[in-house]
Amino acid sequence: MDQPARRLHTDRMKPVPIGIITVSDRANRGEYVDRGGPAVQTWLEKALVTPWTAVTRIVPDETPAITTAISELCDGATCPLVITTGGTGPAPRDVTPEATEEACSRMLPGFGELMRNVSLKVVPTAILSRQTAGIRGKSLIINLPGNPSAIADCLNGVFAAVPYGIELIGGPALETDPAVIEAFRPAHARR
Ligand code: MTE
Repeated sequence: MDQPARRLHTDRMKPVPIGIITVSDRANRGEYVDRGGPAVQTWLEKALVTPWTAVTRIVPDETPAITTAISELCDGATCPLVITTGGTGPAPRDVTPEATEEACSRMLPGFGELMRNVSLKVVPTAILSRQTAGIRGKSLIINLPGNPSAIADCLNGVFAAVPYGIELIGGPALETDPAVIEAFRPAHARR
């Protein structure tokens, strides 16, 4: 089967925009300092070699606000990757997975399955997260729990598949530092 050509990203090109959405009523109201969004940013700074820039949002736990932020970052800011943190649990106001499904044309349930699996080795309450992932246009959206410590747990678990996944949906090639995370590509997609 034909594979998409790998679109290499070089230093001379514009940095790749990556969306980071913190979903939290309290952080949105300024009653709590956002620690989830910065933790995602710190992890990506260590993991990515490709020049990139963060496009951040802090939104309340409300479906329209989350769906709008995801749509804006995917369609307007053309982020090939959007990571959300928070709002994945079972509490009445936790609606990030529903909002993600609403914004996406197709879901990638394997991400949620693997992230819960790796997180269960750290906390038994990992099964309470309904975190998922999906595709909107040429963008991959991944939900993470709100606890800052969950961010590295989850990204360490799934990120090896992220660069190839983005390439398959028509996005740019993201290169990682193998000392942090080794991106996996099938042999026919390697250069
Ligand atoms: N996963 C990891 N790795 N670490 C955590 O601390 N917290 C769990 C779970 N997954 C957690 C985790 C808990 S207690 C909850 S309620 C759910 O994520 C949902 O969290 P959220 O609503 O902040 O997204």
